[in-house]
Amino acid sequence: MEKNRLKGFQQKSSFFEGYFSKYKDLIPEYDKFLEYLKTPLPQYFRINNLKVLDSNHLLELLKNKYGLIFEEVKKVPLFYKVIDSKEPSLGNLEEYGLGLIHSMTLTSSLPVIALDPKPEELILDLCAAPGGKTGLIAMLTEDKAVVVANDKRIDRLTALVANLKRLGITCVVTTCYRGELFPLGIPFQKVIVDVPCSGEGRYRVGMEGEILYQKFGRANLPSIQKGLLVRAFDLVQPGGIIVYSTCTINPEENEAVVDYLLRKRQAEILDWDSPLPYRTGLTEWEGKTFHPSLKLTKRFYTHEVEAVGFYVAKIKRLI
Ligand SMILES: C[S@@+](CC[C@H](N)C(=O)[O-])C[C@H]1O[C@@H](n2cnc3c(N)ncnc32)[C@H](O)[C@@H]1O
Repeated sequence: MEKNRLKGFQQKSSFFEGYFSKYKDLIPEYDKFLEYLKTPLPQYFRINNLKVLDSNHLLELLKNKYGLIFEEVKKVPLFYKVIDSKEPSLGNLEEYGLGLIHSMTLTSSLPVIALDPKPEELILDLCAAPGGKTGLIAMLTEDKAVVVANDKRIDRLTALVANLKRLGITCVVTTCYRGELFPLGIPFQKVIVDVPCSGEGRYRVGMEGEILYQKFGRANLPSIQKGLLVRAFDLVQPGGIIVYSTCTINPEENEAVVDYLLRKRQAEILDWDSPLPYRTGLTEWEGKTFHPSLKLTKRFYTHEVEAVGFYVAKIKRLI
């Protein structure tokens, strides 16, 4: 029995060895990366500063009530990594229902950190549902920015509205447009565009079936991503900021998309301070060269950040 289980597991691991071999020279410490895929993604939660004034009191309560063992992520304020818990899903906790905590992967905070939202700014979240990043924008601005949260799927917007309500957020209005057709003419100061992607940064041993199934139904992601990023650029004021993000490793969905924008519009890549370890963006991939400033974009690998892998580009609209 144990032998069969082990055999199954080895077969599964070799699926990923095959799948990711195209990135062998790209992913740092590739063997360590493959090993890391065998471990479940850690859970993280963030304390909702809009509702919680005394986080020590709440943390004590979570420890005593659920035996929740966690460690503070010192580099990203108010984030905690779950080490152990009697309750497998944070979503089942009463304090989650009350909006005192929100669960999101640590790296999902990075595009918002790059965006650096400020109170009173008019901000568009073009692909917003289920609202992890919208919620964080609201929390970081003390609910004082003006945020438009858009998504093309009404069912996912319903989940976003429920999340924002639970967290006590009031500074967000929602819209349901295909991002590529979001109406022009509103003077947004910042736009975040967290596009649909292949999600390779989330892949884990055990997900093989899902990955193969997804491959069938996928439209041409890079062309959708290019359309969304160009529209995000056109929606922001000259001098404004766009943050583009994915949770995938694929350079065709990352650097190649940002490079396309640089060729189509007057844009500049900006550097930003990342609290988590990263690798610089690529300036070439499979014989294609990208603009040298793509080096300022950031790649976050799952085994180096102990969370979902991400890619983040901060861009300024020049004119
Ligand atoms: C990666 S998820 C966004 C996650 C979200 N930013 C968060 O932090 O919770 C991508 C989202 O894009 C939406 N989407 C896909 N194609 C779109 C399009 N053409 N226009 C607008 N939204 C789109 C999907 O419905 C999905 O909710």
